[in-house]
Amino acid sequence: MSIERLSTGVEGFDKLIQGGIPRGFFVAVVGEPGTGKTIFSIHFIAEGIRVGDKNIYVTTEESKESIIKQAAMFGFDFERAIREGKLVIIDALMGYRDDPWSLVELDVDHLVNKIIEAKKYLGYGRARLVIDSMSAFWLDKPAMARRYSYYVKRVLYRWDFTALLTSQYAVTTSLGFGFGIEHVADGIIRFRKGIVRGELRRYVIIEKMRQTEHSLRMHEIEIINGRGMRIKAPTAYRKEDTVLPTSVAARMLAAELRKLLEIPETEHDEEN
Ligand SMILES: Nc1ncnc2c1ncn2[C@@H]1O[C@H](COP(=O)(O)OP(=O)(O)OP(=O)(O)O)[C@@H](O)[C@H]1O
Ligand SMILES: [Mg+2]
Repeated sequence: MSIERLSTGVEGFDKLIQGGIPRGFFVAVVGEPGTGKTIFSIHFIAEGIRVGDKNIYVTTEESKESIIKQAAMFGFDFERAIREGKLVIIDALMGYRDDPWSLVELDVDHLVNKIIEAKKYLGYGRARLVIDSMSAFWLDKPAMARRYSYYVKRVLYRWDFTALLTSQYAVTTSLGFGFGIEHVADGIIRFRKGIVRGELRRYVIIEKMRQTEHSLRMHEIEIINGRGMRIKAPTAYRKEDTVLPTSVAARMLAAELRKLLEIPETEHDEEN
């Protein structure tokens, strides 16, 4: 039996998963801040635009403009795709009341309805969906993570989506907020980072991909201006490759907390 697979559009990645993500799968894309989840998702959507799929990108942590700009840095014209009716970006950050594709409330029911509306607008056929990130929907109620993830999958499954759902990992513990989508997901793509001899390195490992004989190795990745993400050679696992020095981790955690609590950065933080 052959399985239809969707290319991720990331150079060197598809061959780690027998050619691509099986159609209809809901895949969790997880990792600490800045590890490449959004950029990976952008590639997935850009590939969808290229091959004529219907594409929906829900953004909760960055504005629609920010996603468009980030895509443009790698040569993907998302503005044009939107104009041509190939892509809908649902902005759940800015909550513009005059934009029909804005999500005014961070609520899972609203989200699902908006996605279905967008799919109807784009039309019949194979579709790609990114929800970046799912964590935003359960920040204040982490215990709901699993139930929400299940609900989203159960309702959207019928609409011919192959989906990437991103989720952040707390830097200190590497545990997911709410620990929800991993169990519900058909696949887990885990991004990591570490500092090796004073240099930030990024890695990816496929922790789960149903119906797939996938790579079990951790691969280093590269993000190149003008080109985007690329998979490099597999890496031997070393603790020092993925563990951040405590001082760096503390600063990142502080920054994350500030982001959550919406406290502006102070000069004091800069000095530390
Ligand atoms: N044009 C570019 N050229 C090279 N590297 C870039 C470029 N744009 C972004 N990056 C790198 O990608 C990183 C951001 O990656 P990305 O937004 O995918 O992270 P993320 O995992 O989604 O993080 P978060 O959880 O905070 O959303 C930046 O910190 C930077 O290192
Ligand atoms: Mg992101």
